[in-house]
Amino acid sequence: MPQGPADASSSPSSSSSSSSSAAASVAPLLRPEGWALLEALPPYTGPDAAMALGERLRAEGAPAQVVAAALTQSRLRARAEAKFGPFAAGMLFTAEGLEQATRLQVAAHHARRFRDAGCTRVADLGCGIGGDAMALASLGLGVLAVDRDEATAAVATVNLRHWQDARVLNADVLDVLGRLGEDRDDGDDVGRIDGAWLDPARRTASGRRVLDPHHASPPWSAVLDVARRVPATGVKLAPGVARDIAAGSGLSAEVQWVSVDGDVVEATCWFGPLARPGTAASALVLRSPERGGSITLVDDEGLQTPPAVGSPAELGTYLYDPDGAVVRSGLVGQVAALVDGSLLDPTIAYVTSERLVATPLARAFAVEEVWPFGLKALRTRLRDRGVGAVEVLKRGSAVDVEQLRRSLRLEGTRQATLVLTRIAGRQHVLLCRPASPVA
Ligand SMILES: C[S@@+](CC[C@H](N)C(=O)[O-])C[C@H]1O[C@@H](n2cnc3c(N)ncnc32)[C@H](O)[C@@H]1O
Repeated sequence: MPQGPADASSSPSSSSSSSSSAAASVAPLLRPEGWALLEALPPYTGPDAAMALGERLRAEGAPAQVVAAALTQSRLRARAEAKFGPFAAGMLFTAEGLEQATRLQVAAHHARRFRDAGCTRVADLGCGIGGDAMALASLGLGVLAVDRDEATAAVATVNLRHWQDARVLNADVLDVLGRLGEDRDDGDDVGRIDGAWLDPARRTASGRRVLDPHHASPPWSAVLDVARRVPATGVKLAPGVARDIAAGSGLSAEVQWVSVDGDVVEATCWFGPLARPGTAASALVLRSPERGGSITLVDDEGLQTPPAVGSPAELGTYLYDPDGAVVRSGLVGQVAALVDGSLLDPTIAYVTSERLVATPLARAFAVEEVWPFGLKALRTRLRDRGVGAVEVLKRGSAVDVEQLRRSLRLEGTRQATLVLTRIAGRQHVLLCRPASPVA
């Protein structure tokens, strides 16, 4: 039986319309009859089955509002499996909270940093539905999860119900900031923390994306304030954040870009004891369990500027397309070192080499041919070679890929990879095929 929102609320303060609709869709499930109905639902199989099920439940006398909330939740749980796997079936979500939640695989890495730094009780300041807070709690850390949105805090309370030492506070972070880590007991645990995690909301009330951390909620100024009060602070940021975001703050920090199955999902800024000494930038490249479940970490220790080829004639047999986390963290030089390779151009993140090395840090391709870029000549060449379908990669090229596809009017049966890029400063196109083995 979940605890109700009263367990989580102390000062509800959000009044946006998405928040009130979330509250309406969650509230019926916080009562025993709503929870029982949700738990009795069959697995979600699609909108048609859900509609038929809803009609049946209402005909059997279940209140329409409760049925609607349970069916919404059932759909959200099904969607949440991508982030939370089988745990989703026992959790509650708001649509917005699910979209913003950290997937469990990544949250586990966040939590491990706190545990490895010796933290015992971590404040999750803007906890959402509790993705990160659950990972912290499951490593045995005490958790104080704070969210200013009442429905979201109630959902987090339900999701953290399995852990005795996890507490949810419905409050504005900006109102509790001054007491963080003060080691005094005001009855709400705010003073009793030795680590802080923030995942600032990057959407405005109207749904617009906020890319600049200075305008996220809580804003970057508040993040720095937290990090000054609680040295073991970590914050999740958008992948596009500047590498020197913490420069000038007077705080030591490591910024780590994280990718899952090739998609860069976040940049995390780790302060104080959570940052590795001497490491300013790192990349954590994760593969989901379905893709082998690997974890590869690379950082800027010993990073050298890689050499670059002087002309297309110096191109090696293989081309490496580094993972986005490696590119964003500025660590392409580590891939070049790993494969004994060179850059195609000093400003482009493609690496060429004679060696084929299996690494999760980059996709490898065998280069078949290289030509100066020109649409007509390319169309003729691909037709001559029977290429009918292409995967197009590009860096340092202004070509519109969809327009290129249309203009090529491909007809053959062969599949190929086209790489549009600069080599030694000039636009070229490489005809490639994926090379194995690639980890
Ligand atoms: C990106 S979500 C957090 C997601 C969370 N890490 C997870 O994995 O589920 C950000 C949350 O911060 C909350 N928030 C934003 N500004 C806040 C503030 N000033 N005080 C408290 N909560 C805040 C929002 O309500 C939202 O739920």
